[in-house]
Amino acid sequence: MPPRNIIIDTDPGQDDAVAILLALASPDDLNVLGITAVAGNVPLHFTSKNARVICELSGKPDVPVFAGCDAPLQRKLVTAEHVHGKTGLDGVALPDPQMQLQDAHGVDFIIEALRHAPVGTITLCPLGPLTNIATAFQRAPDIIERVQEIVLMGGAYFEVGNITPAAEFNIYVDPEAADIVFNSGVEITVLSLDVTHKALVTHARVDAFGAIGNRVGEVVASWTHFFERFDIAKYGSAGAPLHDPTVIAYLLQPDLFTGRHINVEIETQSELTLGMTVADWWGVSGRQPNAQFIGTINDDGFFDLLTRRLALL
Ligand code: RIB
Ligand code: CA
Repeated sequence: MPPRNIIIDTDPGQDDAVAILLALASPDDLNVLGITAVAGNVPLHFTSKNARVICELSGKPDVPVFAGCDAPLQRKLVTAEHVHGKTGLDGVALPDPQMQLQDAHGVDFIIEALRHAPVGTITLCPLGPLTNIATAFQRAPDIIERVQEIVLMGGAYFEVGNITPAAEFNIYVDPEAADIVFNSGVEITVLSLDVTHKALVTHARVDAFGAIGNRVGEVVASWTHFFERFDIAKYGSAGAPLHDPTVIAYLLQPDLFTGRHINVEIETQSELTLGMTVADWWGVSGRQPNAQFIGTINDDGFFDLLTRRLALL
């Protein structure tokens, strides 16, 4: 089976970084056509720099990295330095990237990649706010039917919100973009907080990253140790949820996950619940299902896969 072609749309962020490393560690399974940075956890000048830092850390400086949108479709950017630190990759000092950004805008790259590839041969993997994806769909509606599927990290139902009482960060930052994507008709799989909050980076798992014995393992252990302080203080949990790598793990080993095909709508009007993913988990709305909403993860299997693959870099 040839590797699946993917585009990773991302706002690194330590957890995005681990997701990108997992993808780049899996060339027999995933062909990363490009990485498009979007403003989210930190502003675009950091996310577009961090994406290149991560590629170089993985030893793959030839992966094309593009800067995308620097602000949501209609709203002021909300960032998350309180979680990820000022640079978005706090926790370990890494050298500035030598590789250059691609000249093309990230949105143009997504459009042209989908127009030039055979229909249904590119999977989009958004790990941040959906601004780039929605902008591409608005600017070039012809590409929508060409997308193989979207597998994204975002939203929540049982876990409710992490940036407001009602909303998960990626959806909250650009709810209008999420509304466009969730109502595009593209097949979507949602790795929400409902599942990522079951993938906690315990101290034993941080230690296992550190014990891999390569530079990537050392750096991932430092990132996940830095990243955990916010969630442990907030939730009193045994570690931080490792959100974005679940997207890549789903592509690599879908049997680690279970979910339901349900209707998911995005709140874009109410200031109180702005960005809420109204997930009809119990099928009471009568609305057409539009997303595979993942609810469970085999967390030991997930961390075993992740640790084994990071050891290959
Ligand atoms: O709510 C978690 C999501 O928001 C993750 O993608 C994290 O990187 C941030 O973007
Ligand atoms: Ca992210």
